[in-house]
Amino acid sequence: MRRLLVVANWKMHKTASEAAVFVDRLTGLKPDPGSVDAVLAPPFTALAAVAHRLLQGTPFKLAAQNLFWEDTGAFTGEVSAPMLKDLGCEYVIVGHSERRQHFGDTDQGVNKKIRAALRHGVRPILCVGESLPEREQGHTDKVVTTQVRTGLEGLSKAHLAQVTIAYEPIWAIGTGRAASVEQAEEVHASLRATLLRNWGAEVGEQVRILYGGSVSPNNVAGFLASRSIDGALVGGACLDPESFATILSLAQDVARQKRS
Ligand code: PGA
Repeated sequence: MRRLLVVANWKMHKTASEAAVFVDRLTGLKPDPGSVDAVLAPPFTALAAVAHRLLQGTPFKLAAQNLFWEDTGAFTGEVSAPMLKDLGCEYVIVGHSERRQHFGDTDQGVNKKIRAALRHGVRPILCVGESLPEREQGHTDKVVTTQVRTGLEGLSKAHLAQVTIAYEPIWAIGTGRAASVEQAEEVHASLRATLLRNWGAEVGEQVRILYGGSVSPNNVAGFLASRSIDGALVGGACLDPESFATILSLAQDVARQKRS
């Protein structure tokens, strides 16, 4: 049984001081994710503040939202895997559709970033997803399969076991219009089949596949209750500590039900 994973993607929200206030309010609510892996992904500039306040003595883990594939060098403005590792990042989001759309991230670049993260023991969360026209033209499967196959190309089985995939249909992100559980399940099944075909049953079954796109306290339990959905990548609904704490407690309820 794969453990549920809930990742809070803050995107470009909150200064380091605002992040500190968030963490104090969150810990004040005493959220207990229990058997759910709970991860916060603040912007680079707030990673240290969150690490400092949150990571000691709490079950929360830290993620970055992006990285560059070289370790050091003349790459003005970039941040590398060793830098993230040193700050206490256990995870890093790679290939989010906003990066692909606005910053030119390609499947090949995503592959290099994933390899760099894995070289330094940071666990990549690979985001894949189709646009609305791609869905309407019936290309969803082809799009996400290509993103997964190219993004994970050349990975060893040991490295693949460290990877998480997040299925995030672009049309569902930040729109308040989440995919239906059935739509998500269909794509998750196809992603799982791709993993099994390319890396075999043992490792292919270990990789967690999350759903992301307008996840909220109202719909998260429905997604997580599905056998094929191993967690959620949450944007807007995790910027408020109460809302995030509610999502975590709903996830914890589902994890208990799934185990029984
Ligand atoms: P959203 O964002 O929950 O605000 O739709 C999800 C994401 O982009 O990771």
